[in-house]
Amino acid sequence: MSAKNKIAEAREEFLSGLGVPEQVPFVPDEFQKRAISAVADGKDTLVVAPTGSGKTYIAIQAISAYLQMQQKAVYTTPLKALSNTKYNDLRERFEPNYKVGLLTGDRKIDTDASVVIATTEIYRNELYRSHERFSLVVLDEVHFLADPQRGPVWEESIILTPKEASLLMLSASISNAEEIADWLESVRGKPCELIIEKERPVELRFGFLHPRLGVLPLEDEKGKLFKAVNDFYGKEGTSSFHGKGNKGKRGAPRRGRGRRRGGSGRKK
Ligand SMILES: Nc1ncnc2c1ncn2[C@@H]1O[C@H](COP(=O)(O)OP(=O)(O)OP(=O)(O)O)[C@@H](O)[C@H]1O
Ligand SMILES: [Mg+2]
Repeated sequence: MSAKNKIAEAREEFLSGLGVPEQVPFVPDEFQKRAISAVADGKDTLVVAPTGSGKTYIAIQAISAYLQMQQKAVYTTPLKALSNTKYNDLRERFEPNYKVGLLTGDRKIDTDASVVIATTEIYRNELYRSHERFSLVVLDEVHFLADPQRGPVWEESIILTPKEASLLMLSASISNAEEIADWLESVRGKPCELIIEKERPVELRFGFLHPRLGVLPLEDEKGKLFKAVNDFYGKEGTSSFHGKGNKGKRGAPRRGRGRRRGGSGRKK
């Protein structure tokens, strides 16, 4: 096979399965059910589950449960852009039955609504300014706790949120979840339900964007650096990312361990 064909074939294999998955009935996963019922019981809950595993669903169901009890909820994210997206998603989900508001540094819309989407910084500032009025507080991307610059915002939000409110904390990347849960219990003075899901529903594949050849897999089928990538780096070598890079630390992509999204075994 010519080198050109080899590249085309490898690229096709690398990109296979991307696209809109086939429609299947929605079935909540066990970890989602456990998290929703812990939050609905008024517990602080820390959910650590991989990217794309459906943590938003937990937040939406939990918010829904609080709204049905006539209680208010706030959903915080670390970014204005993410807050805007969640604002649109939650409006679609809850309006017109319940009003949805937005509170970021740039935009303030219906801040007395039943559900408010806020950036975590602004939520923290509100806690200093006024008495907390939310019974459910969702802290998305809570691993920002470990951020050297912004971490204190999450710490203060957790510490200042009244104990009577329930915290639902979501993250895909906390490695010391038990330690964090212990800390949460000590500062909040109430139990924290820890829910860890390890299964990755969306497969990770490592690729390389070659300036001339386009998208390539980073490695060949033997696990060696893909030849065109190796050639690109030439003598300079690739030790900065290969060998001690992503794969060893984060684990190889898990193929064929699908549980949902189509029946092909390869996740989309
Ligand atoms: N039980 C389920 N079965 C199938 N699809 C699901 C399930 N739960 C959620 N999803 C879908 O999975 C996709 C990703 O979900 P979501 O955005 O909530 O991921 P996430 O866990 O928040 O990821 P991230 O860590 O990247 O923020 C969404 O399209 C959602 O509809
Ligand atoms: Mg998410």
